[in-house]
Formats: sequence, structure tokens, C-alpha cells
Amino acid sequence: MGEKKKHDKGDLQQEVEDLRRKLEHHNYRYYVLDDPEISDREYDRLFRRLQELEQQHPELDSPDSPTKRVGAEPQDKFEKIEHRLPMLSLGNAFDADELQDFHRRVCKGLDRKEAPDAVEYVGELKIDGVAVALTYEKGHLAHGATRGNGHVGEDVTANLRTINTIPLRLREEETEPPPVVEVRGEVYLPLSAFEKINEKRAEEELNLFANPRNMAAGSLRQLDPKVTATRPLAFFPYSVGYSEGIEFETQWEVLQDIRNWGFNVNPHVQLHESIDDVVEYYESWLEKRNTLDYEIDGVVVKVNRLDLQDQLGKVSREPRWAIAGKFPGQEATTKLLKIAINVGRTGTLNPYAILEPVEVGGVTIRQATLHNEEDIRRKDIRQGDTVIIKRAGDVIPQVVKPVEEERTGEEEEFSYPGKCPACGTPVVREGPMAYCTNRQCPAQRLESLKHFVSRGAMDIRGLGGRTIEKFVEEKLVKSPADLYRLPEKEKDILALEGFKEKSVENLFESLEQSKRRPFSRVLFALGIRHVGETVAEQLAQSFGDLDALMQASQEDIEEVEGIGPEIAKSVYSYFQVEENRALLDDLRKAGLTLEAEKIETASTLEGKKFVLTGTLPTLSRKEATDLIKKHGGKVTSSVSSKTDYLLAGTDPGSKYAKAKDLKVPILSEGDFRGMLGDQP
Ligand code: IVH
Repeated sequence: MGEKKKHDKGDLQQEVEDLRRKLEHHNYRYYVLDDPEISDREYDRLFRRLQELEQQHPELDSPDSPTKRVGAEPQDKFEKIEHRLPMLSLGNAFDADELQDFHRRVCKGLDRKEAPDAVEYVGELKIDGVAVALTYEKGHLAHGATRGNGHVGEDVTANLRTINTIPLRLREEETEPPPVVEVRGEVYLPLSAFEKINEKRAEEELNLFANPRNMAAGSLRQLDPKVTATRPLAFFPYSVGYSEGIEFETQWEVLQDIRNWGFNVNPHVQLHESIDDVVEYYESWLEKRNTLDYEIDGVVVKVNRLDLQDQLGKVSREPRWAIAGKFPGQEATTKLLKIAINVGRTGTLNPYAILEPVEVGGVTIRQATLHNEEDIRRKDIRQGDTVIIKRAGDVIPQVVKPVEEERTGEEEEFSYPGKCPACGTPVVREGPMAYCTNRQCPAQRLESLKHFVSRGAMDIRGLGGRTIEKFVEEKLVKSPADLYRLPEKEKDILALEGFKEKSVENLFESLEQSKRRPFSRVLFALGIRHVGETVAEQLAQSFGDLDALMQASQEDIEEVEGIGPEIAKSVYSYFQVEENRALLDDLRKAGLTLEAEKIETASTLEGKKFVLTGTLPTLSRKEATDLIKKHGGKVTSSVSSKTDYLLAGTDPGSKYAKAKDLKVPILSEGDFRGMLGDQP
């Protein structure tokens, strides 16, 4: 028996080990190579299996298991970590000439008799993120630290583990990793993710991050790694710091080895035979920088041979063998003519800057966002100021700060107007925000309509902002329901300039198609304050249809996972307004989908009564309950002879003993999933 048990343990350990290897491999295929070999569903299954085994056998658990990427327990503070080798900074070159100067200094420093000009360089992009050092011991990620002051940084290991492009264990396929190696590089946030998160924060009326670097730094310094895990941070490695048992000859070789260990080395690194090639590289990226999904503020040029690097050494904290070829900022100076207000669909007054047109990186900028009054005050931006504006990727330009020396005294401070600029209704203040509360406000109506037809909402093609404006102007539409009455007004539309039979036909076809958009999209399209795509999805899933949602109390709504009191209040209040109810009635008549899609399932658990106890490895109580209900079963609170199953996790309560007494079958999450046909 003892023998058998040991054998089982070994098997388990092997299974856990195999699962971890598989998961890390598929993680690598997906995030680093962008070439997955298995479906997300299959990945999730392997992941859940591993999670379950680790929960059931805590002795097999490990901090570098891929299951830990979702974020460990919150910390009180970050410990300090001393870098074994200092993390240096770089000197700057601001144009081609200064790069040539750098090369001359390198040649002089090397003082070689033969071919004194022949120096090979590696060109890399200068990623605008946060520098970190990752220490791997025996191939395992042991700890990771921020750069800090170059000598001492902060231990942010738990947060770094959530980053999918940071291997928890180094790959051994091509190049065997040394016993100790510190990989250095930059943690960054893709621009697309930055915009998405800020949009969501704006919707939730949270403070916005000024740029992706700040968001990356903020995310990395979160005490709760679960928060970090929600930010899709990524990592580009660029060098090896301290190491034992490995020697390199060139920077290029360093990058190849790092790549073989499973890192995502930036694909735009390049080996250059001469400084002229380097200059070309610098200039070409200056042109192309806006095509990337991350911010770069220049290129980094490094002498390729490490022995030459050693010869050159460093001055204070800057190496003589490397330099940052900085790009002129995506910044420009211009005059802020006026701060204007745009009324958003939920009535928020959004200030923006009207600028004297200025060219930044080949694009003419006429406007820039200003988030709210508080933000404008904090930056002390006044109307009439000369300001510095910044553009990054395709992000809307921002006003960075005023140039105070240019002030004449004529500048005017900004405050929200007392009345809505579109309808004259007195403005209501709430924290840093101001609102127009008039539901009939023409500006709000227009913005609501634009939102209603937009991509993520009803996605009505052929109904752009301009067209909507025209329809509103011509009094063809006032509310979203009117859109579905447009076919009755075909003649009027055809009479408008720029409308041909074919385009009108297409428009009607898009309207028809939009009626089939799922209920969650309709909910999102309504533009209820605080209801973004995710919340809409949750509401649709939890309530199933519009009637149930309309009848729900504020408390019922708050019960839904991920929905706090503020959102619940907003949703509840929306449905109390007569006009909104009337709109929904109209939309129902028009034939929109107001029911969530029933996920087709066999009624495997028809009539079965379940009781839940303890903590399940992967399912929350709410998720387990939903699953049971979805499959036709019921959940009751106490165990009795009528109970069909007890679904038990770790630390079960007295229900466990009672179920045993009454001989009620006890299920683990795995058994339960098995019943639903959801087992690997
Ligand atoms: S090499 C001695 N390579 O730029 C070499 N740095 O001031 C030091 N950075 O703090 C770093 N991309 O965070 C290097 N490809 C790259 C880089 C890079 C971004 C950052 C790094 C450092 C700063 C240099």
C-alpha cells in the first residue's frame, strides 16, 4: 500500500511537471512566436487541470507554475534588491551628426592600428517603458527588480510573473541556460492596450494615465499582482547583466541566446557594419516610429564586440560603448487659442483645446484632449497660453504643459461653464467632472446616436458621424428607435445630397442586420453611464433578458459579479426613467434582440439539487451556481436527504460531515466538470 501510494505521488508529480511544461510551451507559442499550436479552449483545460492538482496537492505547488501568472496574493510593500552589477544609463545623440561624433569617440577610445574605423554596431529600438532585471537561477525565474537608482531596485517578482512574455523557466531546446543569469530589458505596455484601458477608466470616471510608460510603471508597482495581471504588459529583453558559467563574445550573440531561452527579442534589432548603416537605421525608425504598437523614443546603438566594450569602459554611469540616438519628441509648441467643450453622450462636459494648427511628425494637429477641469488646473493651462503638445502613435494628441515664460498676462484661466453650451441647462458638478443633466440635450442625443451605431455597439455600417448629424439636422431621427423607422422615410433620404439608391439600400440592409446583434451589444449601445462592453456582457448573461433586468432591484444588480454599487445605481436609475422605457419598447417593436443567447446545453443536471461548500479550485461560488443552473440544476443552501450532490472544495464546513452522514454523493470540482463533459 505504502509502495502504491509513493508510486501515485510520483505519477502526480510527473503529471504536474508535464502540464507545466506544456502550458509554458503553449504560452511561448502564443505570446512570443504569435503562432499557437492549440486552441484557447484546450489551453484552458490544461490550465484548469494543473490548477486543480496544485490545489489538491499543495506540496506540489510552485511559485513558477504558469498558474501563478494570474497574480499572487497582495503584498504590503516591495523589498529592496541590490543589483550585483549597476544598471547604467545612456548618453544621448540627437541627430545623425551626433551619432557620427559618437563613432569618432569610439574609434579614438579603441586606438587600433589596423582598420581603426571598422566597428560593428548593434542597433536596437529604445523602448519607452520601465527597465527591469530578471534573475534566473538554474533556469527558474528567481527574482526580478526595477532599475531603481541603478544600484538598488524594488523586488517586483510577483508582478513580473504575470507578464506572459517573461518566461518563468528558460527554454533549453537550443541553448542551455547557465546556472545564474540576469536578463535585463524593458517592460512596456502596447499602445492599443493603453488606449483601451484609459477609455475604460474614462467610462468609469477614474483618473487617466498620461502615457503608456506611466501606466506600465504604475502597473508594475501595484501591491496586488492581480491588478497587474489585468494590464497586458509585455517585455523586450536587451542585455545580460550578472551571470555565472557563460561567456559571450558579442552583443548580437547575447541577443540570440536570450531569444533561444524563450524571450521575445524585439524583431527590429539589427547588426550594422558601419556607422553609416547605423545612421540609416536611426533615420528609418524616425520615419516609421508611428507604425509600432509601442512607444519608442529613439534607437540604442551598441558596439557589438564585448571585448571592445570592455576596452572602452564607462564614464560615471554612462558606457562609452553605447549611445541612445534620441528622436526629436513627438512634441511641438503652439498656441492654445481656446478651451472648448464637447458634451458627451452621458452628459459629461469634456474640455478640449483648440490649437493654432501645428505639424508634429508629419501630421497637422488642430485639437488636443484636456481631461477635465482639475487636470487643466493641475497643469495650469490657460486659454491663450503657448503650450507643448505631444502625439504618440495614433493616440489623440495631449497638451503636456504651458510655456510659462511666454505668458503676457492676457491668458485666461478655464472653469466649466455654468450652463451646458449645447442646451443651456445649468451644469451639475460631481468631483472633477461636470454634467448636463438634460436628457433632451441635443448634443447628448447626437453623441448617444453616434455611440448607438458605433462598431462595438450596434455596428450599423453606412451610418457615420456626418450622416447622423445630417439626419438629426433634417429631423429624420431623434432617438435610436427612429433609426429603425428610416425605411419609411426613404423618399426624404433620397432627397438629401449625396444619397443614392444603392447607398440607401445598403443602409437599410445594415439596419436589418443590426437587429440580430446580441442582447449584450444592445445594452452597451444604450449608453447607460458606467456600462461598458464588459459590464453589458455580464448583465446580459446574469439576467438573461431585458424584462428580468428591468424588473431587477438595485440590490439584484449589485449581486452580479464585478458590478459595484455605483454601476448598479446607474443601471437601475436608467430603467426608472419613463423615456428610456419607452425607447426600449420601441426597440422591441423594431425587432432588436433583447434576450441573451441561451447557451445550448443538454439538461444534464435537470432537477438535481446541489449544495456548495468550501473553496473550489477555479470556480467562484457564483460561477459554480451559474453552471449548475445553466445545466438545469438547482442550488440550495443546506444539506438534507433531498440533496442530490454536495460540491465541495477546500475547507468545507459542517455541510461536508452532514452530507457524509446522509450518504449524499460528494463531488470535487473535477468530478463536477466531468459530469458536464468538461474534463480533459
Ligand atoms: S541598454 C548600458 N537597450 O533606456 C546600457 N536600454 O538610459 C543601458 N532602454 O534605463 C541600457 N530600450 O531602460 C538599452 N534596447 C535598449 C533599450 C534601453 C530602452 C532604456 C533602459 C535604460 C534607458 C537608458
